Amino acid sequence: MEPRSCGFLLLLLHILRAVIALEEKIIFSKLGDNATLSCIYQERELQLKNLRVYWQIADDQEECSVVHALISGQDNESEQCVHFKNRTQLFWDKLENGDFSLLLVNVSQSDERTYKCVVLQKTEYTRVIHQAEVVLSLAASYSQPILSGPIRNSDSTGEEVTFSCRSGNGYPEPNVYWINKTDNSHLLPSELTITPHTDGTYSVFSTLKVKATSNMQIECSIENKILQENLSANYTQQKQSNGSSPESHKNLEKNGRGAQAAGIISIVILMGLLAVLTCWLWRRRSSKLASYTDVPPNEDKGGLDSPV
Ligand SMILES: *[C@@H]1O[C@H](CO)[C@@H](O)[C@H](O)[C@H]1NC(C)=O
Ligand SMILES: *[C@@H]1O[C@H](CO)[C@@H](O)[C@H](O)[C@H]1NC(C)=O
Ligand SMILES: *[C@@H]1O[C@H](CO)[C@@H](O)[C@H](O)[C@H]1NC(C)=O
Ligand SMILES: *[C@@H]1O[C@H](CO)[C@@H](O)[C@H](O)[C@H]1NC(C)=O
Ligand SMILES: *[C@@H]1O[C@H](CO)[C@@H](O)[C@H](O)[C@H]1NC(C)=O
Ligand SMILES: *[C@@H]1O[C@H](CO)[C@@H](O)[C@H](O)[C@H]1NC(C)=O
Ligand SMILES: *[C@@H]1O[C@H](CO)[C@@H](O)[C@H](O)[C@H]1NC(C)=O
Ligand SMILES: *[C@@H]1O[C@H](CO)[C@@H](O)[C@H](O)[C@H]1NC(C)=O
Repeated sequence: MEPRSCGFLLLLLHILRAVIALEEKIIFSKLGDNATLSCIYQERELQLKNLRVYWQIADDQEECSVVHALISGQDNESEQCVHFKNRTQLFWDKLENGDFSLLLVNVSQSDERTYKCVVLQKTEYTRVIHQAEVVLSLAASYSQPILSGPIRNSDSTGEEVTFSCRSGNGYPEPNVYWINKTDNSHLLPSELTITPHTDGTYSVFSTLKVKATSNMQIECSIENKILQENLSANYTQQKQSNGSSPESHKNLEKNGRGAQAAGIISIVILMGLLAVLTCWLWRRRSSKLASYTDVPPNEDKGGLDSPV
């Protein structure tokens, strides 16, 4: 081949590559759903029997890479990976219009790959007429988070309380935000546990420890980045009379009343004792007065003052 035509071919390849690079798409699917991997060639009047369509995993390192193959107008399962058996189908009514999209049934997290569609046409010689890449990303919505608390921490000094928040059935791993709704600031969780489950989903549990303040407004938010979803639950402290902190007020009140009662009781007892003492003294004096009526006042006084 002449050097000139060689250069021309290289240029053509470059252009082709640029075009192909533009073809990469990302599609999102929920776990268990059917995903459509798109591959559309804008050319009409294709002869199916002259075409070969290969859907494969783009990663070259893969041991088994054939997802679906269409050879001479027929599905060919001889090289299809076991993982994709009975799970793929082309849209037969659209093939002749250049739509080689593939339906992948019941996707699971192991399908989260980059797929490549290669269309070959055999006329005088076989050549690639179209290529496309599709990245399959999976997602599942988290359940409505459940916020519980505040629970007073017994082993801490001051008014520290704990909130907890849980959610599940989501994919991929979530971001968890604790927000002080009073000023919309973020609070750091004291615990964050993300647990993977056998069905591929995650559950999440997080706790927050804060100093209790009046009119607390706390929100827990679970974010699914891929689905651009934020699910939140919030806690708003009830009006003073019924919240959790008034309980401590009541306790304080009880204590205060107790102290008051004790004070009153001791005063009553003291007064009683004084009364008894006065009474006793009075009686003693009266009896003495009775027995010494003829004694002059001087002696009487001395008799009273002397010890018994
Ligand atoms: C997925 O596709 C299969 C086969 O076409 C169909 O039977 C099934 O109902 C579909 N499932 C969903 C969730 O669309
Ligand atoms: C599938 O393709 C292989 C070659 O790759 C061929 O030998 C076989 O006959 C084909 N099977 C069908 C059903 O077309
Ligand atoms: C695919 O389906 C056929 C018939 O429906 C069945 O015999 C075969 O076992 C299935 N293969 C897998 C891998 O599920
Ligand atoms: C979908 O795939 C999961 C495993 O990934 C399997 O447990 C489940 O039975 C499948 N569902 C259907 C409808 O085939
Ligand atoms: C929430 O923000 C308000 C206003 O900045 C602040 O007074 C309060 O202490 C904060 N609460 C918590 C639990 O951080
Ligand atoms: C979800 O909420 C967090 C915290 O408020 C925020 O940073 C994030 O941007 C939100 N994400 C979406 C998708 O709304
Ligand atoms: C708090 O949650 C309740 C429902 O749980 C909702 O009605 C209310 O609007 C939420 N408040 C804020 C400030 O997000
Ligand atoms: C507080 O409790 C009283 C009864 O104990 C009730 O009548 C009132 O509605 C409650 N207030 C709030 C804000 O929950």
